Amino acid sequence: MNDIMSFGIHRLWKKYYVDLLFDKFNKKEKILDIASGSGDIFHLFPYKNNLYAIDPIEKMHEISKEKNFEKKINYQTGYVENLPYKNNFFQVISCTYGVRNFADRLKGFSEIYRCLKKNGFFLFMEFGMPNASLIQKPYQAFLDYFLPFSGSVIAKDRHSYKYLAESIKAFPTPLLIKNELENIGFYHIETIDFISGANNIYILQKK
Ligand SMILES: C[S@@+](CC[C@H](N)C(=O)[O-])C[C@H]1O[C@@H](n2cnc3c(N)ncnc32)[C@H](O)[C@@H]1O
Repeated sequence: MNDIMSFGIHRLWKKYYVDLLFDKFNKKEKILDIASGSGDIFHLFPYKNNLYAIDPIEKMHEISKEKNFEKKINYQTGYVENLPYKNNFFQVISCTYGVRNFADRLKGFSEIYRCLKKNGFFLFMEFGMPNASLIQKPYQAFLDYFLPFSGSVIAKDRHSYKYLAESIKAFPTPLLIKNELENIGFYHIETIDFISGANNIYILQKK
């Protein structure tokens, strides 16, 4: 479904994202993947030393373990709003396509801040609404019609893809997200947008 939804582009975005992540990561330090799901993103990591992964759904970890069986990963079942880690523990915290699902985004961001070391990095990638007026209408139609339809035909799950579309439309603009993160104390380094904001990578640092 991801391939169909993004016409395969999500693979390039994920590769680009992982390169950015490892540019900021020192092998000896600890890295946390939040909302790790079935381990799609860390499947692409060049090495997995000191990798921690958290997701509230145990079944997701089971699928991930099958994919990443040769890697030593510290799996944890839990929510971002109540991270079971010590203060200043990780050098890098990552989250791909999970922030949209946080029940309490501000609490989640605060927990991430607490668990990051000073000068540590928080990177996340998330869908959003494009800001170029030329593609706003077609994108809206893509979300409203194409996504639920293809979800029902291919994944036999219209409801989940309708939720996906609604959560993308409801997600705040990059400017609002940046403000939220800065209010928590993060230093905003950069937001990299693809397809005029349909997909964004946010890069933050704990100063
Ligand atoms: C779309 S998946 C993303 C999976 C993976 N990161 C990827 O890029 O393929 C979203 C994940 O967010 C998790 N999630 C939902 N609410 C969460 C929360 N409050 N805290 C942490 N993870 C959450 C879900 O269980 C799900 O596995």
